[in-house]
Amino acid sequence: MNRFAGRSVVVTGGAMGIGAACVRRFAAEGAAVYVADVDEAAGASIATEIASARFVHCDVSKAADWDALAGIVLREQGRVDVLVSNAYALRFGAPHELPEDDWDLVQAVTLKAAYLGMRALAPSLAAVGGAVVAVSSVHAHASYPGFAAYAAAKGGLGALVRQLAVEYAPAVRVNAVVPGPIMTRQFAGMSPESIADEAGRTLANRMGRPEEVAAAVAFLASDEAAYVTGAELPVDGGWRVRHR
Ligand SMILES: NC(=O)c1ccc[n+]([C@@H]2O[C@H](COP(=O)([O-])OP(=O)(O)OC[C@H]3O[C@@H](n4cnc5c(N)ncnc54)[C@H](O)[C@@H]3O)[C@@H](O)[C@H]2O)c1
Repeated sequence: MNRFAGRSVVVTGGAMGIGAACVRRFAAEGAAVYVADVDEAAGASIATEIASARFVHCDVSKAADWDALAGIVLREQGRVDVLVSNAYALRFGAPHELPEDDWDLVQAVTLKAAYLGMRALAPSLAAVGGAVVAVSSVHAHASYPGFAAYAAAKGGLGALVRQLAVEYAPAVRVNAVVPGPIMTRQFAGMSPESIADEAGRTLANRMGRPEEVAAAVAFLASDEAAYVTGAELPVDGGWRVRHR
């Protein structure tokens, strides 16, 4: 498939994990891809690996970084077709244990960034009939101890996706994927027992792969999903329907 030939794609948090899988997928399908991330080493590494990918240092919680990124993409490509809003921050704790700075960081990187990205790129996306895909989480819909800040941010992200779909229709489609447990560095330090426990929450009885989320992101960003907007697509191995 070559669904993104001639198109220009921005992936936040694209230096590793699910974001990097999205970068690889969009590049393999013909896009020029901008990796908007704060990790210089990982960003440089993926840009070296993929000829049509370029790393741009962008802290997605900073409006000025978004403005600089938009300037670079428009100068180099003259268009922005797809924004994948994937970067996030995660800090654990019930509210009485969670420092205020941690709460603010999680909201800024996980939720506010989706607003800032749209603020910077909406006119360009609208000009070409573009698409936005936000990467949410099952924690937007299910509550576990310690996830107050993250769950609130992801729940807000789901509401924001629906709102953005309304604000920018019909010019820009806005959707979300909702991953379950995906094998990225979040799970790298966990014991095999903990990983098996996570996997056992799914009907698939295994962890998901970043490429499986990227495939869903690419579908929602593509013209094949031309009649899909304001939607949340679970990519969770059936996690949400399993009762334990
Ligand atoms: N891995 C999972 O099991 C899982 C499950 C559900 C949802 N998700 C969601 O998927 C997305 C990606 O998760 P992942 O597991 O691939 O994460 P990851 O930790 O592997 O990668 C996250 C990337 O975001 C970048 N980043 C962090 N702060 C940033 C900032 N301020 N500005 C720009 N970039 C920043 C990091 O440098 C890193 O490259 C997140 O939105 C996460 O909430 C992941």
